[in-house]
Amino acid sequence: MPEQSIEEFKKGLEGTVAGDSKVCLLDGSIGKLEYRGYKIEDLAANCNFEEITYLLLYGKLPTKHDLKDFSRKLAERRQLPKYVIKTMKALPNTMNSVEVMRTAISALSNNVEDARKLTMDQQLDQGITLIAQFPTAAAYYYRLKNGLKPIRPKKKLGHAANFLYMMSGNVADDYSIRAMDMDFVLHAEHSFNASTFAVRITISTLSDMYSAMNTGLSVLKGPLHGGAASGVMEMLGQIGSVDNVNNYIDNALANKQKIMGIGHRVYRTYDPRARILKKTAREISQSKNDMKWFEMCDKIEEKMLKEKTLYPNVDFYSAVVYKELGLPMDMDTAIFAIARSSGWVAHALEQYSDNRLIRPLDHYIGPVDLEFVPIEKRK
Ligand SMILES: CC(C)(COP(=O)(O)OP(=O)(O)OC[C@H]1O[C@@H](n2cnc3c(N)ncnc32)[C@H](O)[C@@H]1OP(=O)(O)O)[C@@H](O)C(=O)NCCC(=O)NCCS
Repeated sequence: MPEQSIEEFKKGLEGTVAGDSKVCLLDGSIGKLEYRGYKIEDLAANCNFEEITYLLLYGKLPTKHDLKDFSRKLAERRQLPKYVIKTMKALPNTMNSVEVMRTAISALSNNVEDARKLTMDQQLDQGITLIAQFPTAAAYYYRLKNGLKPIRPKKKLGHAANFLYMMSGNVADDYSIRAMDMDFVLHAEHSFNASTFAVRITISTLSDMYSAMNTGLSVLKGPLHGGAASGVMEMLGQIGSVDNVNNYIDNALANKQKIMGIGHRVYRTYDPRARILKKTAREISQSKNDMKWFEMCDKIEEKMLKEKTLYPNVDFYSAVVYKELGLPMDMDTAIFAIARSSGWVAHALEQYSDNRLIRPLDHYIGPVDLEFVPIEKRK
């Protein structure tokens, strides 16, 4: 049996460093988050999703010319081939957003060349096309599920504005576009989270970019990773009013219930993304003259800090943003995936560029050297 330091083994790999990366710095003890060495606060204040995606993929901030070119490239690649739309139309209405997106990505991967034959530039190119197509797959899921005609993407709109347009058929107001963009920027990347690590494992076998994106989607689908925003909104619906917050939280905590959107495995202080998104949530609620959801969240935050010294995570105020944007709550994981696709591609490329098969050991705790029993004698 190979030698292994069992004493250092941690369940769920908690606290385990699993590789080098230059994509994202995350220090949960002080609430520090940087993409490619730039503080999330500076990026959120100054960049749109296209600029962030360029930064993540190329490792540097784009010039004006680079950004224009890159944004045009993304805009030109949004549409899904007819056969993919036809495939999506044929799916049962009971499938959820991530299941449908995964099927669309699988259909897109038709005839993908063996990844070993592709150059890094070709891999990057596939990644950019996928990032461009994620919002279309998500919006078409929504339109088809609700018996609506899919809306062709509009090239002149930015990534966030075009997604909102493909959902509703209307060009959104500036507040809404900025809020959507901010949500994408803040969800774009987060180091070796479960879905990103799974993407890297997929790539480490020299599988292809499409398979890696489907791995990312599959892992994000689990409720411990993506999709806490819908849980927050469901809870807000149950609470009903600001006056009922204290009572609800007291009861929930007494019954050992988890409060959705609160707490984080890595952050032991305020999640910097939640701090930024709180401001966005306040602004969009003010612009829509609808402060009820924001005020309830604000009160829950205050109560949870007092009772448990726990802080909101990024999904907490996302729920308010989606509600104010009129986005259906069951699409929260799909929206997360639209944003995180850029981080997934950045990590896939980093893994390709310095690959070693990711293959950990397990700590075997089952029986050993049992006496074999022939089938006729088994009870
Ligand atoms: C994210 C999460 C899974 C992290 O779990 P974790 O790392 O095991 O949490 P911690 O170890 O920090 O928990 C410390 C204590 O706070 C409690 N706690 C953590 N999150 C809580 C929450 N949301 N509501 C109530 N209590 C919570 C734990 O039960 C534990 O209490 P105990 O010491 O009495 O046992 C957890 O906070 C959670 O389930 N949050 C709600 C779901 C959510 O928002 N998910 C999206 C994450 S981005």
